[in-house]
Amino acid sequence: MGCSSRDEAYMQRALDLAANGIGRVEPNPVVGAVVVQGECAVGEGYYARFGGPHAEVVALAQAGQKARGGELFVTLEPCCHHGKTPPCTDAVLAAGIRRVVVAVADPFPEVAGRGLAILEEGGVQVEVGALAGKARRLNAAYFKRQKTGLPLVIAKWAMTLDGRLAAGSGESRWISSEASRRRVHEVRRISDAVLVGSGTAIADEPSLTVRHVEPFPERGQPTRVILDSHLALDPTCEPARTAGEAPVTVYTSAAALVERGGRAEALRQTGCEIVTVPPADAGLLLTAVLQDLGKREMSRVLIEGGSRVFGSFFAEGLVDRVMVFVSPRILGSTDALGAVAGPDGRGLLEAFEVADLAFETVGPDLMIQGRVSEF
Ligand SMILES: NC(=O)c1ccc[n+]([C@@H]2O[C@H](COP(=O)([O-])OP(=O)(O)OC[C@H]3O[C@@H](n4cnc5c(N)ncnc54)[C@H](OP(=O)(O)O)[C@@H]3O)[C@@H](O)[C@H]2O)c1
Repeated sequence: MGCSSRDEAYMQRALDLAANGIGRVEPNPVVGAVVVQGECAVGEGYYARFGGPHAEVVALAQAGQKARGGELFVTLEPCCHHGKTPPCTDAVLAAGIRRVVVAVADPFPEVAGRGLAILEEGGVQVEVGALAGKARRLNAAYFKRQKTGLPLVIAKWAMTLDGRLAAGSGESRWISSEASRRRVHEVRRISDAVLVGSGTAIADEPSLTVRHVEPFPERGQPTRVILDSHLALDPTCEPARTAGEAPVTVYTSAAALVERGGRAEALRQTGCEIVTVPPADAGLLLTAVLQDLGKREMSRVLIEGGSRVFGSFFAEGLVDRVMVFVSPRILGSTDALGAVAGPDGRGLLEAFEVADLAFETVGPDLMIQGRVSEF
């Protein structure tokens, strides 16, 4: 559908407002809204906290009487059901809005086009599709969960210019700069889980918490998730040691639970949760792990390594986004660890394509972000 550049400009403002809710409203979608009278934005709002007032309601309240006969630009179809708040469609009709421009319909089964229909039946001119792609990307975690039940998966690593995650000795601290690590903590802050393999957990004893920036109070620390088929994780080391301070979930196999019952008990004593999932060739069945995280209403999972875990996630087509920091250094050794160690034999034609690329320099590093999946 062709949208005017005027509609797109107001929708862009609504999207910018919506982005303020990232990390604060999940598992709900982020939403932004602008009320326009003539050529003047008379009300603006966004969904700011889980269970709080919706963007449309905030924008309409700010506009007051100026909303009458005006237009509403909203990034997601207005809701029409009684959830934690009354239906937004009621508020839009009561405010006397003449035209509603929606970026994208809400796939949530109780809405799914009904919000649009109710507005049209109420005599409102409704148009859908302005900046739809951007709106869908902004709410990628929400759209993915609605469609698949799985959280959005972001693979993040720091590598040298020659594509290495660690020296042959295992040394990887620090490949990227402090400025880059701060950016990672900003993503941890909006993630429900930060996941690593047992190789990284044992070699690096990472804390995986949000430290360089303040965690959002309503969300707290993300759950630290370790993939550990053989329960090799040491309860006296990070991250297990501090499970009482920030949650740790260890995924393991049923066999390990039988063979290493004592270790499981010691991990539980520190506060770790232990969950069994079926085994797979490279360790644990990753789809089972993601399904379990999705059932826990997790929206965003940040995969922080290592190489073999990245390899399995890519091989199984489970990565949605990448965030890669490239440090201007060359390790130059064949024994240094490559970034993504999946199964052998993949040719160039089967390489994973990265779309929507964004490049940014962060301190001395180059940060590359992109999309690997449809989400
Ligand atoms: N530069 C960076 O950004 C960065 C980030 C992270 C790590 N690193 C470095 O990477 C190195 C560790 O990487 P790594 O490849 O050796 O280990 P890893 O990927 O962290 O862990 C691999 C282990 O995870 C377990 N696992 C369980 N399910 C799995 C699955 N489906 N697929 C793959 N693994 C699964 C397996 O052990 P079990 O079978 O025993 O469960 C496997 O051996 C360290 O040197 C670390 O410093 C660097």
